[in-house]
Amino acid sequence: MTKTALYPGSFDPITLGHIDVIGRAAGVFDRVVVGVLVNPKKTPLLELNERVATIREAVDEDLPTAAGRIEVSSFDGLTVDYAQRIGAKFIVRGLRAVSDFESEMQMAHTNRKLAPAIDTVFFMTSLEHAYLSSSLVKEIAAFGGDVSRMVPAAAVRRLAR
Ligand code: PNS
Repeated sequence: MTKTALYPGSFDPITLGHIDVIGRAAGVFDRVVVGVLVNPKKTPLLELNERVATIREAVDEDLPTAAGRIEVSSFDGLTVDYAQRIGAKFIVRGLRAVSDFESEMQMAHTNRKLAPAIDTVFFMTSLEHAYLSSSLVKEIAAFGGDVSRMVPAAAVRRLAR
């Protein structure tokens, strides 16, 4: 049976920490679907289709051996509903530090209440990338700072446009 995991997020933009988590998830699951959330409450730096295209390029370039088992798509509504639609019994999230734990635990328990058959699996982001966050990258990029060691090359190219 194919083990599918959904990795949901805003990915605005995708960082090297996200790439690290996708690679780790691909080491455990047969099929990993990166689901980019359509969040009407947030004003994104990158449009939804740009985020999806950037992740696709980054996966192909940075995770070439696993790229064929990694899909990138967008979704709106509840993460558990999307997981069910794509046949994923697992939701993947990354943990960078203890500070992530509280909100992630709350989300995982809430998702389990909504869909008891779906488990959330956490991967520890590598220490090298543990300090990264999309919101800091967004701020640095908005002021023209160098984010080339924080995001994959595909995102550097996209942000430069
Ligand atoms: O990258 P982010 O912004 O930390 O990802 C948050 C995300 C997309 C995983 C979360 O906001 C989410 O799952 N939103 C979809 C709506 C939903 O299912 N809400 C209930 C979650 S407990």
